[in-house]
Amino acid sequence: MIKLALFAGDGIGTEVAGEAVNVLKFLFDSNSVRYEIEEDLVGGASYDEYKLPITEKALKLAKEADAVIFGAVGGPKWESLPIELRPEKALLTLRYDLDLYANLRPAKIYDELIDASPLKKDVVQGTDMMIVRELTGGIYFGQPRGVFDLEDGQKKGVNTLVYTTKEIERIAKIAFDIARKRRKKVLSVDKANVLECTELWRSVVAGVGKEYPDVELTNMYVDNCSMQLIRQPKSFDVIVTTNMFGDILSDESSMVAGSIGMLQSASLNGKKGMYEPIHGSAPDIAGQDKANPVAAILSVAMMLRYSFDMDELAEKIENAVEKVIKNGYRTADIYSNAQGTKLVGTKEMGNAVIDELKK
Ligand code: IPM
Ligand code: MG
Repeated sequence: MIKLALFAGDGIGTEVAGEAVNVLKFLFDSNSVRYEIEEDLVGGASYDEYKLPITEKALKLAKEADAVIFGAVGGPKWESLPIELRPEKALLTLRYDLDLYANLRPAKIYDELIDASPLKKDVVQGTDMMIVRELTGGIYFGQPRGVFDLEDGQKKGVNTLVYTTKEIERIAKIAFDIARKRRKKVLSVDKANVLECTELWRSVVAGVGKEYPDVELTNMYVDNCSMQLIRQPKSFDVIVTTNMFGDILSDESSMVAGSIGMLQSASLNGKKGMYEPIHGSAPDIAGQDKANPVAAILSVAMMLRYSFDMDELAEKIENAVEKVIKNGYRTADIYSNAQGTKLVGTKEMGNAVIDELKK
């Protein structure tokens, strides 16, 4: 029996996670997979109900589940809360408490969506990369942190970039293992020319790389990497990087892939994982049936693959999504008025994927 926790969250999170779960239920039911899905509030929705972005009960549910499906959290309503109570804290707590240190963010362009990318066709065509972002360390969690009062009446804001050898080793191994199943190239991204912490990062990654003589390892500074991502996205295979650099570079990579609404992610510790679209809660279009559910649907495919070794079912979802795109279904974020395309809402997009699975 597969036990899943569902945290749809806020804004379009509830809409896209809803479609992802519909797809999953259809697939499980039609393949006689036994499962149960238990749902709870997180983010702003949880704050409104319990005055906390995530409750002990929700955390327990996540810990006991085999995998977690996550929508998105946040919105203007909760932006002025203290940082500890903000919706984003739910996400960070789940990542940290479940020790989901490996965040996998693939970015691949569908030929049909090349026009949705702001980049030139010949630059983006054929792009297929995997960003491996360290997710439970670095400046997101380092101590000391906070805003402190100085004697002269000024304030001082502090965050700390910290990585230990172990933390770097385990994420590097993940990147090299993934590269082995792909084009056998790892690019480690750091700022080793300025930050000692990432100097250590570079040398530890190199050490791990010695155990993978069949994989080519190169290094790049993050500023250069952000330029090369736009200049020659095709050249990237696996990128391994720190928590914050990975956050930034993965948003950038979404423009190569056409829309952030297309990009899924997995946050892993072994088989245990949390699966979510990389986009946020998009309050501006929430509740209007406009959001693209593809990222959430593809996240569920990642779950089948990484948590349950159900590669065949994962491929069914991926193929169905590809077919739906080929057949011209477009949510607003990827709609370009091209011949043979049809502007659809969140629900119709989700249903189109299920109809494809029925064939
Ligand atoms: C992401 C998001 C989160 C992050 C926010 C919502 C805390 O931007 O998953 O990329 O910074 O990690
Ligand atoms: Mg981000």
